[in-house]
Amino acid sequence: MDIFANIAILKEEIAQYSIQTADELEQFRIKYLGSKNIIKPLFNEMRNVPNERKKEFGQVLNDLKTSAEEKFSTIQESLSDGPNVENSGIDLTAPGFPYPLGSRHPISLAMNRIINIFARVGFVIAEDREIEDDWHNFSALNTPDDHPARDMQDTFYLQNSTEMLLRTHTSSVQTRIMTTTQPPIRIIAPGRVYRNETISSRSHCQFHQVEGLYIDKKVSFADMKQTLMFFAREMYGPDTKIRLRPSYFPFTEPSAEMDVYWGLKDETDYRITKGTGWLEVLGCGMVDPAVLENCNIDPAQYSGYAFGMGIERQAMLLHRIGDIRNFFENDTRFLKQFTSVH
Ligand code: DAH
Repeated sequence: MDIFANIAILKEEIAQYSIQTADELEQFRIKYLGSKNIIKPLFNEMRNVPNERKKEFGQVLNDLKTSAEEKFSTIQESLSDGPNVENSGIDLTAPGFPYPLGSRHPISLAMNRIINIFARVGFVIAEDREIEDDWHNFSALNTPDDHPARDMQDTFYLQNSTEMLLRTHTSSVQTRIMTTTQPPIRIIAPGRVYRNETISSRSHCQFHQVEGLYIDKKVSFADMKQTLMFFAREMYGPDTKIRLRPSYFPFTEPSAEMDVYWGLKDETDYRITKGTGWLEVLGCGMVDPAVLENCNIDPAQYSGYAFGMGIERQAMLLHRIGDIRNFFENDTRFLKQFTSVH
């Protein structure tokens, strides 16, 4: 066949050559531009071409070579525009990296644990506002005007207000529920509370509490003790010992504090139990009849008990955490440790 016709076919072949990937481009380069490319030997054909066509032959061959070079550089440029699906070397069909899952905050874990224990004996969750008025947080709960908790030094009042404040305890939810619901009432109220305290390893200006309230006919102190013992054993283990110490809260009469026996095995035990082996976990008592009256519940018909506990303290005990500030800093090195805790 005519050598000129051969060159024309090759030229068409180059024009049609499909190149989508860097690999294909390399194949193309080897075939038409590499050291053993298929164009090179054609130059040797020069001697077989009649003299009058030698010039033309040189031109078409050079033209052929240039077309291969141009195609190569154009496609090389477009492929190097940036990584794309084909040239990136990334296998899009490969399985993805596991997405790191967050975990529940240790406060939520302790809170859920406490709520679940009380839910099993009929307590339902009640939640209410964190910005409260003085009446629901203090007055209705029998807290006298000269009580230190009402002091500006101890409570965050809203700017320019002597009425509105950040609730200092979840006992305010008691007032909210009792003023809107007639007994029987059996609630557990978890939530955040605020006190104007200096931040240290043991105290913070914000923390969490769980409040419990049970009002019905003939509810007794013995009922309270039994329920709290059930709680302590579910929370800390079946052999847990508790004791109730007489105490004082304005909204309960009589009032008590419950301790659990923690033991005195090592130095930390001495420190956190102040050398007694007993650990205070909650305040409790029989709802003062004056509080029932304040909330329009007839104390001649109904009685009840209430209790309240700090959640940070429970979480610190459960996980042996030494500094309350850890809970609020959201350092993932701290939080990650609770991924497998339920
Ligand atoms: N409100 C109390 C506090 O913030 C805790 C408390 C004590 C709640 C006795 C109660 C209770 O309901 O009966 O320290």
